[in-house]
Amino acid sequence: MPTLDTLIELARPWAKFYSKSSPTQAVLMFMHLAGMLGGGGLAIAADRAMWKARTASDEARPRLLAEVERTHRPVLIGLAMAVVSGLLMTAADLKTYGPSLIWWGKMAAFVLLLANGAWLQFIERGMQRAPATINTTWARLVLSSRVSYVLWFAVVLGGVLLKNA
Ligand code: HEM
Repeated sequence: MPTLDTLIELARPWAKFYSKSSPTQAVLMFMHLAGMLGGGGLAIAADRAMWKARTASDEARPRLLAEVERTHRPVLIGLAMAVVSGLLMTAADLKTYGPSLIWWGKMAAFVLLLANGAWLQFIERGMQRAPATINTTWARLVLSSRVSYVLWFAVVLGGVLLKNA
């Protein structure tokens, strides 16, 4: 298991390049925020659609569910952009972020967001395989979408605190 000092040493050339290159800093921050805006914006809209679908008719629900399903891919692309840029920005200043409780707190919220996303997809697939159980599993889907909503904001808060704490 490499120590933080080893990782800092390995990342030194990148950190040196990054600290001197304003265009690289701008591109990575844009990638980070664009991934957040695109992925997070769609995810939050899908979360809200699911709350509304709870009171929708039995005929309308499968259609709503299919629409929500179509957002998963672009949300994952947005998340991938945020992860790649986030890891590169982290590597550029490991001395600060490695021991930072805020950084680890943000990562914990991020891992929970991913785990919750996987759970949400698992519930959706179950509904498609056995539509008869839609009413019983709907409450779980709504709970998962509420958790997702809160976690997206928690990760954003973690990012803002990283910059300003
Ligand atoms: C593995 C995933 C991630 C890592 C390693 C990461 C890492 C970072 C780092 C190091 C910064 C500070 C950049 C700097 O000061 O130059 C930052 C800022 C930020 N991150 Fe992330 N991040 C990740 C995912 C996310 C996600 C998914 C979101 C959105 C939901 C997000 C939202 C933000 C925000 C809002 C900022 C502050 C931007 C600003 O104030 O200018 N991050 N992140």
